[in-house]
Amino acid sequence: MSSELEEASAILKRFNQEHILNGFENLVENKQKKLIEQILDIDFALIDSLYANTKNDVNNCNDKIEPMEYLDKYKLNEKYKYYENIGKEAIRNGKLATVTMAGGQGTRLGHNGPKGTFDIGLNSHKSLFELLSDYLKEEGKKYDVTIPWFIMTSKENNEETIRFFEKNKFFGYQKDKNIFFFIQGELPMIDTEGKILIGEDGLIKMAADGHGGIYESLVKSGMTEKMRQLDIDWVFIGGVDNCLVKMVDPVLMGIAIDKKVTVACKSIVKANPHEKVGVFCKRNGKPGVIEYSEITDEMAEAVDENGELLYGESHILCNLFNIEAVERMGVTPLPYHSAYKKAKFIDTDGNLVVPDSPNSYKFEAFLFDAFGEVDDMAILRVKREEEFAPVKNSDDAGVDCPCTARKMYEEFYNLK
Ligand code: UTP
Repeated sequence: MSSELEEASAILKRFNQEHILNGFENLVENKQKKLIEQILDIDFALIDSLYANTKNDVNNCNDKIEPMEYLDKYKLNEKYKYYENIGKEAIRNGKLATVTMAGGQGTRLGHNGPKGTFDIGLNSHKSLFELLSDYLKEEGKKYDVTIPWFIMTSKENNEETIRFFEKNKFFGYQKDKNIFFFIQGELPMIDTEGKILIGEDGLIKMAADGHGGIYESLVKSGMTEKMRQLDIDWVFIGGVDNCLVKMVDPVLMGIAIDKKVTVACKSIVKANPHEKVGVFCKRNGKPGVIEYSEITDEMAEAVDENGELLYGESHILCNLFNIEAVERMGVTPLPYHSAYKKAKFIDTDGNLVVPDSPNSYKFEAFLFDAFGEVDDMAILRVKREEEFAPVKNSDDAGVDCPCTARKMYEEFYNLK
């Protein structure tokens, strides 16, 4: 037995995960090597504690929740131009980089391939990635700069994503000069007994660690360093699945710079008090996002003296960070949340099990859990019809799906 295999076996014994090596003898040599690498890489104590947490309901009900102040982009009056000019100057000086998070699995959409390669059905049949790149290039022209574009993939979709970009000649971007790809972290999936799952390939079944993995991955992959070399001060981080995402917003940047905050986020007002979205709030005095499931009906319906919802500013994954904030967040671990999912696996007898209901846990960090780390944050309310057309579900759902996103995109760009 090689010393590495011995070491791996000892770890598994200590953490009661010996089944992981059950099929070891049947694996080809490079897979055996890969499996050992996986074992030596995994933080089993963390997995044990994450499993223990699946048994305890996370209880935040003692947190002190308060409304969070925001600015409305269209009620800034003369300040609009003031902020815009500050932001424009910073963009012209090349201080902005954009990051697109494209590591998600897109389970609800059910597209066979990375979500960014999805065609929402426009006459042009452009993919989400191309729509985003069109937007970025247009904005770049306005300021006479090429805005660097960083794309976060997962181990699962990285190769396919890069192949797609290669096929499309990086949409005019130059790899490693102004477009960069980096891979987010991942964690093993476990069953309801806390046993790590083995996938069909005989290796440990891993899953991306959520969009909250962004900070650590940006730092660990050397992307923040790259940004420093490019003299970047501000980093816009958004999702791949909002085809109206406005990554270059001088007003948002102007506000962040003028107010000297480290994070500036966009919000849209809830469609109705009970819309199932997370909203900005102050949690124990710090900026945060409260999930719809955590909020009482009374809070959801509460209004201020102008009749505006007190908890009405939805978090739409459109956030601008000072690079220092990203670096800081990249070294502070975020809590992981568990999601109960369906996942195929190889059982201890070596048989493939295809469950028809959830059977396993996947662990994810949420990007907004890092907001509690910042002292100050600005929120800018923008218009849904201008900035938020998400592609989450398949068309059967009728909401946040390709057909609703396509309609909004066509209306915004006057395509019909
Ligand atoms: P969602 O939370 O909507 O997840 O991601 P998803 O993977 O796209 O879809 P479902 O939940 O499996 O149906 C919001 C954004 O965050 C990115 C997604 O790619 C999307 O742009 N994301 C999510 C990551 O980059 N990595 C993750 O681990 C999770």
